[in-house]
Amino acid sequence: MTSTSNRNFFVAQNERTDGFTHVLLITTGSVASVKAPLIVQELLQYDKVKVEVISTQASLTFFNAEDVTKPGARVWVDKDEWSDDYKLGDPILHIELRRWADVVLIAPCSANTLSKIAHGLCDNLATSLLRALAPTTPTYVFPAMNTLMYEHPLTSEHIRIVKDVIHYEVVGPIGKTLACGDVGLGAMTEWRDIVQIVVQRFGLCRN
Ligand SMILES: Cc1cc2nc3c(=O)[nH]c(=O)nc-3n(C[C@H](O)[C@H](O)[C@H](O)COP(=O)(O)O)c2cc1C
Repeated sequence: MTSTSNRNFFVAQNERTDGFTHVLLITTGSVASVKAPLIVQELLQYDKVKVEVISTQASLTFFNAEDVTKPGARVWVDKDEWSDDYKLGDPILHIELRRWADVVLIAPCSANTLSKIAHGLCDNLATSLLRALAPTTPTYVFPAMNTLMYEHPLTSEHIRIVKDVIHYEVVGPIGKTLACGDVGLGAMTEWRDIVQIVVQRFGLCRN
């Protein structure tokens, strides 16, 4: 289940609440997307936190959107951007979501999306939002991929651009036995550590 029925109604100023921390989680097509529901459920255990999720098509293979919507977040997908009856002045989803966000987590960040960010591509909801994001919005990238994908020479170049040119924080990956059975660097930072980054940065307290 996604948020399609809400498409025309997401307006940042109506959705933001004073004193709350607004966390936008972007999930992409890595197996580590299985952790997305855990990240959302844990964040929502804290006082004055709202969470919205943008998921790429590939990412939705790895978790059930209902496991994110039940605890109180929405999952936004590419088709939510597009309306057959768009009128000038209608809210534009990737702009509204970036206005809404106090912090953006790209967790997990696939090799594909990492490359797209580094090259400035904006061909889906997630990357359109990132191209439109204010540089003052803290943005964290959590790469997650097979070890050889991570060790591919292009990956270090993409990470360099994302850090040094776009000024996102890149956290991980970590080393462990990956879902594919390979052992080495490439796993997403532990989901609890991802939550703790937000907790500490915004001084969140548990409910
Ligand atoms: C079962 C499966 C697991 C995958 N795991 C990963 C992964 O962990 N990391 C990664 O970068 N790509 C992985 N891929 C490949 C991406 O899903 C693929 O490159 C996709 O185009 C990513 O699209 P997105 O970046 O728009 O989400 C996987 C593909 C499949 C079929």
